[in-house]
Amino acid sequence: MKPNVLLIEDNAATRFGFVRYFAKDGYDVCEASNLAEAAIAMTTRRFDIVILDINLPDGNGIDFIETVKANDPFIPIIIITGEGDIPLAVEAMKRGADNFLTKPVDNAALAEFMRKTLEIGDMKQRQSSRKRLEKTDAFFIGETSAMREIHDLAKAAGNGDIPVLITGETGTGKGMLAKWIHQQGARAANECVEVNCSGLRGEMLSREIFGNVRGAFTSADQDRKGLLDIANRGTLFLDEIGDMGLDVQAQFLKVLEDKSYRRLGDVKLLRSDFRLICATHHDLDSLLNSGKFRQDLMYRINMMTLHIPPLRERMEDLPALVSHLLRALGSDISVLSDDIMKLLCDYSWPGNIRELKNVLERALLLTPRGTIIRQALFANLAVARPPLQQKNRGTVQEVEEAHIRDVLEKHGGNIELAAKNLHISRATLYRRLKRMNFLAD
Ligand SMILES: Nc1ncnc2c1ncn2[C@@H]1O[C@H](COP(=O)(O)OP(=O)(O)OP(=O)(O)O)[C@@H](O)[C@H]1O
Ligand SMILES: [Mg+2]
Repeated sequence: MKPNVLLIEDNAATRFGFVRYFAKDGYDVCEASNLAEAAIAMTTRRFDIVILDINLPDGNGIDFIETVKANDPFIPIIIITGEGDIPLAVEAMKRGADNFLTKPVDNAALAEFMRKTLEIGDMKQRQSSRKRLEKTDAFFIGETSAMREIHDLAKAAGNGDIPVLITGETGTGKGMLAKWIHQQGARAANECVEVNCSGLRGEMLSREIFGNVRGAFTSADQDRKGLLDIANRGTLFLDEIGDMGLDVQAQFLKVLEDKSYRRLGDVKLLRSDFRLICATHHDLDSLLNSGKFRQDLMYRINMMTLHIPPLRERMEDLPALVSHLLRALGSDISVLSDDIMKLLCDYSWPGNIRELKNVLERALLLTPRGTIIRQALFANLAVARPPLQQKNRGTVQEVEEAHIRDVLEKHGGNIELAAKNLHISRATLYRRLKRMNFLAD
């Protein structure tokens, strides 16, 4: 069967050249000139590979990676970037793209890339089904005192019923810890119901949480249970609670105070006996100060706060964590060479354990079984700088660079957010990062 390609590119001439070349090469190409068209195409067909331009008329291709992956987590994505956009490509790889090429694209090189990327996609699918059978996604604790303390508190929390708030940067394992706490406790036999508050807003979120009766709103053609019903005797895990809108916060506060709630459109009071776990990657003080989060709700949810430190602050655990993740990824090798470990130790891991896991997964996919893992597969980590150990009080330029690094790390390596926070344009930030050798040329 012909592989189905989704080509997302706004330049009609580039698309034309691509289609002519690849149709002849045995591919079935569907063209989209912007993200909206691509989103529609994805609802009507299954694709084997996506070729994605970064600058598109209705948005940024990098932000679209998440949408593509939500639709099909294993679909290979090749990014096409303009010259000089390598930092963007690095960002794209961090967000899950498999490969990138710079413009002007040489079709023969792209054909070779597509062949290899499709192979990786196949391997991922096979590995994933194997992984599902093995079920080795265990929570790694480690030996640092901060993590041992989290472990002890989490164990105690598992047995009790008080609300737990988990904080930490993206990828530190907040979601995993929440499920672990649920599994440790007496409620493990019942559901752990998860809702991501950043994905749903306003009425959509309250509908999900509270449920509704028939006729509560125009499209409500039947009674629907809310997540609170389903979490009865189990756990309700509100992920990214910092993104919950103020209107829903007010409704939810009432549930916590009265221990009862109503479905939308209903007069009957219902009860649900659930244990609450919340998580957020936001800095809570700034959320409270900016008025985006209610103080009274905060008191209710943070009776026990577990802060997971970023990976760069617990590097002693790195060797054991690497072995744990390699085994979880189904590898028969559980130790890496000293040279590779040095590269891993010198990197600051803005994406934390998630990023480490992705880096290891990519290396495993590119290493045939029975052969050793090559150091070259980790080479791009060497361009990033280790974390700052102390505040730099050097020249203006040094202080500026240290500040940029801090802000970038605080935003998990997200260039767009960092630029916003620094009040400079993305282009300026890229130039600075290049000057700092933070990004490859
Ligand atoms: N302690 C851990 N042990 C094993 N794997 C972990 C651990 N922490 C994180 N991971 C892995 O890292 C990935 C990210 O974890 P998780 O989704 O829990 O992070 P998060 O803190 O909720 O991130 P985000 O803020 O982006 O939602 C998962 O794939 C998980 O398997
Ligand atoms: Mg999470």
